Amino acid sequence: MCSIIGYRGKLDAAPLIVESLKRMEYRGYDSVGVATSNEGKILMRKGVGRVVEVNKLFNLGKLPGQIGIGHTRWATHGGVVNSNAHPHTACTNDIAVVHNGIIENYMELKEEITNLGHTFKSQTDSEVIAHLLEIYYLDSKDVKEAIIKTCKRLQGAYAFVAIFEDGVIGGARYDEPLIIGILDEGYFISSDVLGFLEHTDRAIFLDNQDIAIIDGGELQLFDFNGLPVKRPITQVAWELGAADKGKYAHYTLKEIHEQTSTIIQAGTQNIDRMQNFCDIILNAKSVYITGSGTSYNSALIAKQIFAKFAKIRVETILSSEFQYVHDLIDNNSVLIAISQSGESSDVLQSVKTAKQKGAKILSVVNIQTSSLARISDSSLGVNCGPEIGVAATKSFTGQVSLIYHIADNLCNNCIGFVHKNKELISAIEFVLDNEYKIAEIANNMKDVRDIYLLGRSVHYPLALEGALKLKELAYVHAEGIAAGELKHGPLALVDLNTVVIVINPSDATFNDTISNAHEIKSRGAKVIGISDSENHLYDQFIKIPKVSELLYPLVEVIPLQILAYFLALKKNADPDYPRNLAKSVTVK
Ligand code: F6R
Repeated sequence: MCSIIGYRGKLDAAPLIVESLKRMEYRGYDSVGVATSNEGKILMRKGVGRVVEVNKLFNLGKLPGQIGIGHTRWATHGGVVNSNAHPHTACTNDIAVVHNGIIENYMELKEEITNLGHTFKSQTDSEVIAHLLEIYYLDSKDVKEAIIKTCKRLQGAYAFVAIFEDGVIGGARYDEPLIIGILDEGYFISSDVLGFLEHTDRAIFLDNQDIAIIDGGELQLFDFNGLPVKRPITQVAWELGAADKGKYAHYTLKEIHEQTSTIIQAGTQNIDRMQNFCDIILNAKSVYITGSGTSYNSALIAKQIFAKFAKIRVETILSSEFQYVHDLIDNNSVLIAISQSGESSDVLQSVKTAKQKGAKILSVVNIQTSSLARISDSSLGVNCGPEIGVAATKSFTGQVSLIYHIADNLCNNCIGFVHKNKELISAIEFVLDNEYKIAEIANNMKDVRDIYLLGRSVHYPLALEGALKLKELAYVHAEGIAAGELKHGPLALVDLNTVVIVINPSDATFNDTISNAHEIKSRGAKVIGISDSENHLYDQFIKIPKVSELLYPLVEVIPLQILAYFLALKKNADPDYPRNLAKSVTVK
């Protein structure tokens, strides 16, 4: 969940690294640090805060030297304080290291290393890497040997990059990504292609248990046994790096607005690839779908769509629960993993488990160069471009749109989704044009403590998704509830201070959900209706256009995203970088 970067070449390292860290900040933004190697000395500056703030305070980008490493942190072990910010050094200051992941056996290692006379300066798990490297490097003065011996001691998931006193950079990965960027003027080593895409589109994706050493102008790759390995150079799509806010105040708002085009782009698929993907589903005895957070909400929608149109039974499993409930998965199963980043640890772990049991792996993933896309038997791209805002918005509608296309393919175009593009776009444009009305509603909700969102059938996952957006962007307690479940318990929570949002377009669920609105209204709560059909029960009404029934989920989520965005602004929260979160959750 942190970002790591290293550079060695002919250019000044620190300013390059600072720019790279700004681009990768979505991975974690508690604290930041840079270390360079200059004239045989390691220089380091770090602090708590966003890259721009810490750079302003400590001039990170002014560190001299053409060799350096950098890090943005999302705290796992140890509080958000300067001493826990990376890079970490050991006792001699001859080695500095940045790390992404979790070292599970760090307590045992720390005790062992402390007994050897080493002193720890932070509460992080990462610092053990610096000490182990130092111990083994002092022994042999050999970077490769020091890294191999260190990796053999570490348990958990990690990618790290270290600089050594003589200017050599070394990195290793185990279940966390690490990618080399190749420039005419040197090499980057980074946890994300966004770390170097501004400078080069030539990349080497290191395999799991690979070690990279950049010494002088040379890059060498080894496996954990020290044997040389070769990995292909991949050309990465430049568009991945095309991320700026344009005319919008925040990436999140820009990404909400981009949905008029990204929803359509999701349907642009290679025909053979789509066919192969669907054939794998059709040939499977059992189909499972997994994902986390928003991507899991897409999976819940997929379950309903596949059953309704393609007549395929699907079981959904939260990725974080997968390891406990995979008993029935075997070599006749297929697991469809949905993920924006393709790097979520829980998702990758589920895929690993399913693979071990012989299942085929399919993925619906936005980042086509991600670990998930690369380990799948077949993968379809969501094609929504880089999503920088930490909250998933356009990737959600992209996933749902692609799910409809897959379902259409599975049922000989029984949905005809592609013919509904125009209708869908004009409905979303209508909602976006009326954004200011939703902003007014948000302005009056600043002091609301509890929000419940109700929906039935396919609108229930939308209620969950709306609640997730409100929680993460506006820091308000919000709960998505299947509307019919209200009377089975949650109704006890409803009083004069509650706000209930009913997602109630005029389809087969309409009348039953209106009955629920009555029940809420008679307990004095405030009701906000999202529908194409107004009703006297709604204290406030967010109008969406009347569309073909199956389009409602893609339309009704837009006002929910907008409401969460404006409520965040009203509460002075940064919608792009919600507190305590990170875009890519690469830890368990
Ligand atoms: C919510 C959100 C998260 C992600 C989740 C999975 O807005 O962004 O809940 O959906 O962390 O991430 P991916 O899709 O990258 O696997």
